[in-house]
Amino acid sequence: MVHEFVGRAAIVTGAASGIGLATASLLMERGMAVALFDRDSEALEERLAAFLQAGHTAIAVSGDVANPDDVCNLLQSATSAFGRLDVAVANAGIDTVGLVHELSDEDWARGLAVNVTGVFLLAKYSIPQIMKAGGGSFIAVASAAGLKALAGNAAYAAAKHAVVGLVKTMAIDYAAHGLRINAVCPGFVETEMVQRYLASSPRGERERRLSKIAAGRFARPEEVASAIAHLASSDASYVNGIALMVDGGAYAGYLPPAYRASP
Ligand code: NAI
Repeated sequence: MVHEFVGRAAIVTGAASGIGLATASLLMERGMAVALFDRDSEALEERLAAFLQAGHTAIAVSGDVANPDDVCNLLQSATSAFGRLDVAVANAGIDTVGLVHELSDEDWARGLAVNVTGVFLLAKYSIPQIMKAGGGSFIAVASAAGLKALAGNAAYAAAKHAVVGLVKTMAIDYAAHGLRINAVCPGFVETEMVQRYLASSPRGERERRLSKIAAGRFARPEEVASAIAHLASSDASYVNGIALMVDGGAYAGYLPPAYRASP
């Protein structure tokens, strides 16, 4: 049976690594043409070559999600390559670690620019194209820190809470135009971002974080990609405006030590 994604086109930001890479890969495996966008042009070109080699339909555009010209260029490149846009995944993001009184103004501003303005810009320029295609799906990768505090990461949590608010409001604003707009909220995922975070944290941070997760392990990027692909598909045709936790049960409640799954 031909998958519903065949003949459809998507944009994924932050597609050179981690969750974005896994998402782009899964959408292409199911038949979608994908425009990969990332600020890391070298890694992006390597990923593109591998996807083309595997017979997928893809283009790569490098740039910064916080730069309106770069995002406009992405939309122009994607729509001229594929002739349509059905799905946009605002995944690119950065962590901003530190207590508020220690955070530089520049780090605060950059965190908001990438994590919030980056989502806004992709929505602003992709939604008209998705409407033109007769409707589709916009998905933002927020975080569990978009719904609850993340100790030592106030700027990151503030930005991700903003993303959830933006997504919920856009969901009701564009439902009548045939769009569904949702967020996924991962817990800890085994990606370069988390490797960097753990490397810069005091010893024992991985164990401390794991002790709060019922699943007893961090997520694989592919497990977040599956949730994104589900939201992008007609299997989720009545799902709109949600912040979907993909966190192995960490948000569900307090976890007494004996209840943690063995890895
Ligand atoms: P990652 O660091 O492995 O990949 C992020 C990608 O985005 C990189 O390729 C990077 O070059 C790109 N990128 C960063 N800033 C950019 C910008 N301004 N313009 C264009 N590209 C940019 O990170 P990961 O873990 O895959 O994160 C993806 C998203 O998932 C982020 O929004 C992050 O906040 C979110 N997330 C990650 C979690 C985790 O535990 N890894 C947990 C919850 C949310």
